[in-house]
Amino acid sequence: MELILDSAVIAEVEEIAAWGVLDGVTTNPTLIRRSGGDFKRTVQRIAELCSGPISAEVTALDTEGMVAEGRDLKESLPDNVIIKVPCTAEGLAATSILAGEGIDVNMTLVFSVSQALLAAKAGAAYLSPFIGRLDDRGEDGMHLIAEIMQVWNHNPDLTCKVLAASIRSVEHVEASARLGAHAATIPYKVFKQLIEHELTDSGIESFLADWDAVKAEGRN
Ligand code: G3P
Repeated sequence: MELILDSAVIAEVEEIAAWGVLDGVTTNPTLIRRSGGDFKRTVQRIAELCSGPISAEVTALDTEGMVAEGRDLKESLPDNVIIKVPCTAEGLAATSILAGEGIDVNMTLVFSVSQALLAAKAGAAYLSPFIGRLDDRGEDGMHLIAEIMQVWNHNPDLTCKVLAASIRSVEHVEASARLGAHAATIPYKVFKQLIEHELTDSGIESFLADWDAVKAEGRN
């Protein structure tokens, strides 16, 4: 499963990229706003730090506007930048045009199996079901991933990658992997939690204590 960082903060991308496990980065207008940085400069820098797909989102609501923004982002930013388009009728049409021009699209704000199917049929390279936002309103976000993966398993012609998004916990990441999602985009705080385990910490502590004893006996 591709591990993608959901962030527009350069320092966060630098830190996780240094782990050597980062397959891509997703941004959106909210993350850009929170980062305090300029949109294109931020995406440019992120694309230099990570060679995987970097999602940059369009903000137009009409097909023509989305296509124009997508083309502009593709022309003005590094090759690994892909275009995030919302899952609307206009977004489907824009995805179909952009995909026809060889431009990879990440269709975002997917909340149902039908939307996922349409995104795939329109030619999106990735589709992003938002797990956490379904949980937030009392629904089961992981169930949507399970349903989509069930459909994908029955339809090998569907090549669009399912990118679990709006992730809130390590459990969300692990469940996405168990269900066979192709990718998960993970907020910085949760990404950091993926490496944590108290038995790793206590194991290091006891190995070091024993090594100190070995050294004290002059056996190192
Ligand atoms: O990648 C989509 C993600 O940024 C949305 O997450 O936490 O705003 O629902 P959230």
